[in-house]
Amino acid sequence: MKRLEIFTESKSETQALGKKLAPLFEAGDVVLLKGDLGAGKTTFTGGVAEGLKIEEKVISPTFNIMKCYFKGNLPLYHIDAYRLEEQNIELGLDEYIEGDGVCLIEWPMFIEGLLPDEFLEATLTNEGGDRRKIVFVSNSEHYDALVAALEEGK
Ligand SMILES: Nc1ncnc2c1ncn2[C@@H]1O[C@H](COP(=O)(O)OP(=O)(O)OP(=O)(O)O)[C@@H](O)[C@H]1O
Ligand SMILES: [Mg+2]
Repeated sequence: MKRLEIFTESKSETQALGKKLAPLFEAGDVVLLKGDLGAGKTTFTGGVAEGLKIEEKVISPTFNIMKCYFKGNLPLYHIDAYRLEEQNIELGLDEYIEGDGVCLIEWPMFIEGLLPDEFLEATLTNEGGDRRKIVFVSNSEHYDALVAALEEGK
């Protein structure tokens, strides 16, 4: 397990962090994005998309549950489970989690039963104004290496 705490002072800094992480992802990777409404989860995902050379703008999939982006270096699956709450609807999302791309999941607690054992977790907290605290926690060797690489490239 590795833990890395980073503070960003603007939307673009949070995007840059996602962009920096993007080249480290491989097919099957899963990132759980935790934190309140407006904490910056979609913003971070937009940075990952940019880093994967996806030209399409990442928008909040709140009303779609999931958006797929296939035009980059790696498929990106962006899930926002907020609207599912605790309904446990079977949507076939499991196909995209640990699938052929990287999967970023906002509000993962609402699809608890679909989550794999290994993942990278990022918890975003609004510290007031434009300041955000982003805490990365890994729970396997593979994700430890991602966090270490992010830390080295800091
Ligand atoms: N340091 C920062 N990092 C990220 N976003 C920031 C920062 N400072 C201000 N913001 C603003 O906070 C908002 C973050 O919105 P975003 O949609 O990314 O949040 P979210 O965590 O995905 O929320 P939701 O749970 O509603 O989907 C944006 O309006 C953005 O401009
Ligand atoms: Mg969002």
